[in-house]
Amino acid sequence: MTKALKHGELTPANATGLEGVIVANTVLSDIDGIKGELLLRGKPIEALAGHLSFEDAIAHLWQDLVSLPSGDLRRAFGTARVRAFAGVAAMQAAPADLTVFERMRVGLSALSLHETQTPDAVAISGAMPVLLAAAQRIKEGLSPIAPDSGLRTAEDLLRMLLGTPAPGHAVEAVDRYLVTILDHGLNASTFAARVIASTQADMRDAVIGAMGALKGPLHGGAPGPVLDMLDAVGQPDNADSWIEQELSSGARLMGFGHRVYRTRDPRADVLKAGLRKLPQDNPKLVLAEAVESAALAALAKAKPDRALDTNVEFYTAVLLDAVEIDRSLFTPLFAVGRTPGWCAHVLEQQAAGKLIRPASRYVGPKPDA
Ligand code: ACO
Repeated sequence: MTKALKHGELTPANATGLEGVIVANTVLSDIDGIKGELLLRGKPIEALAGHLSFEDAIAHLWQDLVSLPSGDLRRAFGTARVRAFAGVAAMQAAPADLTVFERMRVGLSALSLHETQTPDAVAISGAMPVLLAAAQRIKEGLSPIAPDSGLRTAEDLLRMLLGTPAPGHAVEAVDRYLVTILDHGLNASTFAARVIASTQADMRDAVIGAMGALKGPLHGGAPGPVLDMLDAVGQPDNADSWIEQELSSGARLMGFGHRVYRTRDPRADVLKAGLRKLPQDNPKLVLAEAVESAALAALAKAKPDRALDTNVEFYTAVLLDAVEIDRSLFTPLFAVGRTPGWCAHVLEQQAAGKLIRPASRYVGPKPDA
């Protein structure tokens, strides 16, 4: 008879973390973790980011899935931003000590409070930049700035955040970033969204749940700590010793390693290419390259059986910092970029129509005989 386990002895039956388990069919994105390739609806990420605006990349991802109310997606998102701004009062009324991410979830919950229909993919995805900018302004003790429905998302997001039009290179960098992270297979937050959608909860519930899954440092919470790491290293010359000490303390290096990639995450290079397009030389890029090469060498030595390479979060941190986005906004901005992907997966899951409900193995005590 199996001995009952105590809390501290619990080893999940799925200690593989569901690695390699297929739980959905999708037409949205395909990752080849060995070759280091990412396709969105058949197109390599390198052909999308830096070439298409966020709206056009979403239209590519959403084709046949989302019917647009009228006109193109840019116009539909402009309208969605204006509608979302009408509900910002609920965010202002929420407790003062909420983080930006938490206040965005309040805004999402209150979205279309006075409308009869629950918000759809356009309403939710279009609202996210308004929620981010408003939450940050409220945190700073400033009034939220109304959207300009004629602008494209990246442009209006920065304008609502900063209170003034952002320089073109910053808009391009943010646009490139948002496209780069639009969708990425069945990552933890997308899986969470699909689980929630499978219960027939509405799309907004699925997105709020996905945000919770995104927040952790093993997923979308990593880029802020990447910047903390660069700050702690300070200078390229310190990289080797700092990294070695960090690894020997048992810490994980943020921005490295991936569940699927056994080579470099292609999104890291797409973002690094964005850094090269910025008008000024960036001393942090020199530091980042030194830290990256020290980390790759140390990880290869420390974990020779596990190919650990640079992931998307490493250059996310450097790129967003270079265009003066505060590190506390990296994860909220990730949510803005990933929301259209979550929504598309929700629609696929709704069409599949099957409850996701796995099983656990009971290893606790049995009733006395
Ligand atoms: N630094 C040091 N060691 C690492 C790292 C890292 N960044 N990543 C993995 N390892 C080690 C683990 O300690 C483990 O070693 P062990 O077998 O001796 O215990 C081995 O490599 C395998 O790691 P797992 O956690 O089993 O691999 P998994 O696929 O579950 O983890 C993850 C992937 C969570 C991303 C991991 O690589 C990690 O923690 N990275 C750092 C955080 C990070 O950058 N997160 C962002 C990911 S990208 C994204 O979600 C958008």
